[in-house]
Parts: sequence; C-alpha cells; structure tokens
Amino acid sequence: MTTAGTRNILVLNGPNLNLLGTREPGIYGTSTLADVEAAAMAAASSRGWSVDCVQSNHEGDLIDAIHAARGTAAGIVFNPAAYSHTSVAIADALSAVELPVVEVHLSNIHRREEFRHHSFVSAVASVVICGAGISGYRMAVEYLAESLEPERG
Ligand code: DQA
Repeated sequence: MTTAGTRNILVLNGPNLNLLGTREPGIYGTSTLADVEAAAMAAASSRGWSVDCVQSNHEGDLIDAIHAARGTAAGIVFNPAAYSHTSVAIADALSAVELPVVEVHLSNIHRREEFRHHSFVSAVASVVICGAGISGYRMAVEYLAESLEPERG
C-alpha cells in the first residue's frame, strides 16, 4: 500500500558508489552514478512514478535519508554498498520506517569474498537483486511500482 497517493520511490546509494564508472569497472561496470539514477528515473516515469535520488558515503546520512522517506516515498531501492555487511543501524532504520525495500547490488556478492555474502539489510528487504549490474535498479523500481500500485488490492 502506498502512502496516500505517493507514487515516489527513494533510490538510495551508499558509500563509494559516487565513484561508479571509474571504480573497479571489471566488477561494477562503466556506468556512472548519474547513469544509474537516470535508469531508475526512466523506469519510474514510464509507470507514472517519480524518484528521489540520494547517495552518501556516511552511515548517519543514509539513516537520516531512510527516516525522511517516511511520508515522502512509498518504497526504497537501496544499494547499501559495504554497509550491507556491517550496519545493524541501517537495518534497524529500515525496520523502523516500515517501507518496502528492494536491496540492489551491482555485483553478485555471493560470488565474491566471504565477507560480502552476509547482508544485514537482506533480513529486512522485501526483495534482493544482485549481479544484474545497472539493470538491477530498473528491475527494483519496476517491482516497487507494480507491487505498490494504489489500485492493486
Ligand atoms: C556492492 C557490493 C558491496 O559488497 C560493495 O561493498 C559495494 C558495492 C555492489 O553494488 O555490488 O560497495 O553493494
């Protein structure tokens, strides 16, 4: 269910994702953060939805953005980056706001180092998409827009 007609999604990106495009392109690809946000925006607008895009390298700023989404967004597309593997505080913030969350990782974290295999966010996410690159953001927006359509029962 959406917050009274809020056809808006928060697209939230965590630390180091501002470096996309030049950061380890063999793992993360050559798309920039601007490309990621444009893909999410295009997927949303084609369904009559909008997005707010936020990226931060700071855990507390990400938590503040999650809190602020309550009342302004119907769901969150979130790549928590390395905080996925470390942050109970971010997982708690997501639980607190009770918004549907789609966790996205550009890379397949399960094919990488052992320490990336566990995500605290996955336990509070509705859906987890990893390994699809930039397409994962489009899929995440499509999922939220379709599952949260106000007219759907
Ligand atoms: C990432 C995977 C994380 O393990 C890593 O710390 C990132 C990016 C991804 O999108 O594949 O920064 O979330």
